[in-house]
Amino acid sequence: LRRPAFRSPPPHPSGERPPRIPAERMPAHVAVIMDGNGRWAQRHGLPRHEGHRAGAAAVRDVVHGALEIGLRHLTLYAFSTENWKRDPEETSAILDLLRQETRAYPFEDLDVRMRWHGRADNLPQDLVDLLDMRERSTRDRAGLTVTTCVNYGGRDEIARTAAALARRARSGRLDPDLIGEQDFAEHLPRPDMPDVDLLWRTGNEQRTSNFLPWQAAYAELHFTPDHWPDVDRRDLWRAITEYTRRQRRHGAAGPAPHEPATAPREGA
Ligand code: FPP
Repeated sequence: LRRPAFRSPPPHPSGERPPRIPAERMPAHVAVIMDGNGRWAQRHGLPRHEGHRAGAAAVRDVVHGALEIGLRHLTLYAFSTENWKRDPEETSAILDLLRQETRAYPFEDLDVRMRWHGRADNLPQDLVDLLDMRERSTRDRAGLTVTTCVNYGGRDEIARTAAALARRARSGRLDPDLIGEQDFAEHLPRPDMPDVDLLWRTGNEQRTSNFLPWQAAYAELHFTPDHWPDVDRRDLWRAITEYTRRQRRHGAAGPAPHEPATAPREGA
């Protein structure tokens, strides 16, 4: 089987190159809440949907930067189950953008596997078909997995997982008294999605807003003030660089306060 040759992503217009991150410090999975599109539009005297359009351009750049730095999983919150509360004009503008980006597929020549995550039931069928089609057409790619969360809600995901466990228990194939975290993880709608190492939210809000509560239980949190359309790949690189300096313990005891995390360098 011949692997198709993929192109390298176009460099950032500034010519800046990604920082080199040691493999053992690299997060496997970065998830992003792309907040601030509406405020960006307002600041520029534009309708809100123009903010989302500018946001889609920022998505392209960040995906290019994720490939360049060697990230394996990037997950983007594009549309939440709560976003239906917005003006129908705005919700259809966001869904239209998702249609356009999925159809045009700007990452065709790149080693990007596209997936989507969320509830299919109240989304327009043609969008679901497009998202499914793109998932199939890129499923053998092994570089970067980009998961777009569409009509996604974390509690909704947990409720669906509980329902799946209940169905299995009712069928007699699972003992409710023995259900553990691993069983729960295996019944998630996307059981192969790795835990989130770094959760980044733009737009100057410090909340996680029902985004991947199971997968991001131990995530490092990174909040930045910029509106999403003002973000580019260098912000992703900064977020990852900052992550590499943090010490993750997952509930284990860490070094005593002021004790260096690693052996001090000579002269340091
Ligand atoms: C939050 O900003 C952003 C959204 C609800 C939509 C995100 C969608 C995109 C970036 C476009 C398409 C995505 C892809 C993956 C191609 P907000 O509108 O809540 O901003 P505000 O808080 O300033 O009002």
